[in-house]
Amino acid sequence: MNPNSLRMAVSAGLFLCIFVFGFWLSRAGKPYNGIIFTIHKLLALGAVIYLAATVYQVQQLATFNPAQVLCTALTAVCFLALFVSGALLSLDKAMPPVVLRLHQAAPYLAVLSTLGGLAFLFP
Ligand code: HEM
Repeated sequence: MNPNSLRMAVSAGLFLCIFVFGFWLSRAGKPYNGIIFTIHKLLALGAVIYLAATVYQVQQLATFNPAQVLCTALTAVCFLALFVSGALLSLDKAMPPVVLRLHQAAPYLAVLSTLGGLAFLFP
């Protein structure tokens, strides 16, 4: 497997695991199961670190074109929204429904922008 396919496969695998643990967490309901919640958070953190390292490595080799900048920025915004909404959902307080809706919608946008960004980075 070449390095670019490997990057795609690792990113897809990380997203798959985050989704599985996210749906599991959701199904199990509140109060959230500590182990599932911790794995979900750690996988999300691992994905951020992995994707940031990939962007850093690629950016050392070449200047980004506008499509790459757009996908990278969109992915960063999605991840920020997911971390903030995820942290709010995990509080004991009741949150407005929009917070849960955001955490349910942003993952799909994050997948699209990440895979789109990787496709632009490694054509
Ligand atoms: C890459 C980042 C993340 C992705 C892609 C993601 C994805 C998901 C998905 C797909 C669900 C299931 C939603 C549903 O039932 O439709 C979920 C649930 C959840 N996630 Fe995340 N998540 C991310 C990061 C985080 C972080 C950083 C936290 C905590 C700080 C978090 C906390 C939660 C919580 C509390 C739920 C359960 C929500 C409920 O009650 O239904 N997530 N996540």
